[in-house]
Formats: sequence, C-alpha cells, structure tokens
Amino acid sequence: MSPLADRYGRRFPYLRLSIIPACNFRCTYCLPHGYHADANAAAPLSLDEITRLLRGFTELGMHKLRITGGEPSVRRDLTDILRTAAAVPGVTKLAMTTNGTLLSRHLHEWMDAGLNAINVSVDTLDRACFAHITGHDRLDDILHGVNMALDAGLASVKLNAVLLRDVNDKELPSWLDYLRDKRVGVRFIELMQTGDNVAFFRDHHVRAEVLEEQLLTRGWQLLPRAADAGPAREYRHPDYAGRIGIIAPYSKDFCAGCNRLRVTATGDLRLCLFGEFGIPLRPLLQSDDQRDDLVRAIGGQIGRKEQGHFLHEGRTGITPHLASTGG
Ligand code: 5AD
Ligand code: SF4
Repeated sequence: MSPLADRYGRRFPYLRLSIIPACNFRCTYCLPHGYHADANAAAPLSLDEITRLLRGFTELGMHKLRITGGEPSVRRDLTDILRTAAAVPGVTKLAMTTNGTLLSRHLHEWMDAGLNAINVSVDTLDRACFAHITGHDRLDDILHGVNMALDAGLASVKLNAVLLRDVNDKELPSWLDYLRDKRVGVRFIELMQTGDNVAFFRDHHVRAEVLEEQLLTRGWQLLPRAADAGPAREYRHPDYAGRIGIIAPYSKDFCAGCNRLRVTATGDLRLCLFGEFGIPLRPLLQSDDQRDDLVRAIGGQIGRKEQGHFLHEGRTGITPHLASTGG
C-alpha cells in the first residue's frame, strides 16, 4: 500500500506511541500533583497489541517510531517493547522520549534492544530549578545518563527544555556553555496550553521567538528545512558542537510540517495532539488476522486530519496534559 497522505499532501512516516500514561515526575506544567490513576482506566496495550499496531502502521509507510509516556520507563516491560518494536520490519528508527530517571541504569540494555535515539526532558541546567520544576532533585544523575548515551555512541541524543517565563527563560548563557563541546541537540519548546494548565499557561507562556532573536544576534544560523523534518526550526553555530532546535507551536505554519500521528497508551489514534477526538484501534489489535481491517481503519481516518490546531483560540482539544498523549 502507498504511504499515508492527508488532504493537505502531508505524509506520516512517524508514529509516536505512548506506552503508559503514568509518570514518576510532577512537572509544574504537566502533572503538578503527580500522576493519579483513574480506577476505571483501561490497561495500556500489551506487547502483542503493540506488535500488531506497529505492523499495521509500517504497512502504511511508518518507519520512525518514538516510544513516549507518561514516562515509558515506568513500564517494567519497556526493554521487551523496544526489542519487539525494533524487530518489526520497516521500523528503521527507534526513538524514545524519557525524563531520564532510569537512563543511567538501563541505557545499555535499551541500546542492545535496538533503541537508537533519545530525547531527555531537561528543562534547566540549574539543580534547584530542576527540582522545583519536576519535583525531583535528579538533575545530576540525568545529565550523567546523557553523557553515557553520548559516550556509548547513541545516534541521536536530544534534550527537551520547555520555556517557562520567570522560571528558566534566562538561561541561554548556561545552555551555550553546555553546547560548546557536547554533540547534543537542545530543543526549546514553547509551553503549550492543555486542558489542565490554563492558569499556569497564562502566567508562564513565553514566545520562543524571543530566544531565536538572541540566537541570531549571537551568530547562530537557521538551517534550511529538510524535506522530512518535523516542526522544529534547527540552528547551528560553527563554534559549537551542539545544535539548538526551536519548537514554536503558536507560530505560523507550524502544522504545515506535521509528519506524525499519535497513538495513546490504550490504543486510541490521535490525528493531532490537540484534536477533539481519538479513534479506538484496540478492538482491531486482538488477533493477527485483523491486520487488513486495522490498515483500512487507520487509512480511512487520515482524511479527517485538520490542517492545523486551534490553540490560538484556546481550544486544546481533549488533551488534559501531555502525559496523556506523550507530547
Ligand atoms: N507544553 C510544552 N511541552 C510540554 N511537555 C509536556 N507538557 C508540555 C506542555 N504543556 C514536554 C515535556 C517533554 C515532552 C514530551 O513534552 O517536557 O519533554
Ligand atoms: Fe512526567 Fe514528562 Fe509530564 Fe514531566 S512532562 S510530569 S516528566 S510526563
């Protein structure tokens, strides 16, 4: 079957699969009171269900997979999931987004299982500020895990930092020191409004453009956008080993580069992070015989994907916080 394309000509080689909504952190902008399980919530997809899902998506042209959460390493069978995902024919890039709490302990196991890219959430390089944002004084160990990943030659190591007004929005100098000799990409992400963080958003949202102006003044150059690139704008500087990416969801044309679909931990297809609905795929993941039905169901939904999100109008869709969809 030919690769998926929507009404606007966008293709979706990239799937972000959440494997668990739970997280051990309580980031101020995401789960300020920590994760609380809903007693009636369905269990996350099993390894067999995940395998069937991935086989369906690769048939539709998916080749890059990102495992997300909540925090994926909260799941005890994470390594099995990685190994199984890496073995699905057609999956050529296996990435994971993690808060890094188990990175130093499990990096080699995850790499042996087939992981080749990680994004680690590191909102600040200041230990006290990190503890304030996440509720956990774990920065040093997480940065140690990042160094281990670099030393081990993991193909792609990126850090995610959500920009927060009056919390971590004046730290460019320390990030630049960090990036001078480290082959990492830091992506500064503009805070997004979700169903649960409305007041926090009002107090702490800051436009990423402010940071981009500072980068340009300091001689950083915007790279031309690669054809298959996602929504990040990438910058580099000849004196620095690291790179900087800017993710500005409120900027014009952000959605034009959308190349991804999402599936929640319980198997709902989300066409957009901020969409109004999820399409339950789980009933089609119960036996290997359902593959054609699954592929047809996914293919049939793509036509419903909207051109853009409605965040500017304050419409955040059904996303209470990004732990529910994996960001
Ligand atoms: N706005 C922007 N980024 C967010 N993340 C979580 N919640 C938000 C939000 N409201 C980030 C996390 C992580 C990535 C998956 O998404 O920090 O790095
Ligand atoms: Fe957990 Fe990530 Fe949400 Fe922080 S942002 S609470 S690490 S899911």
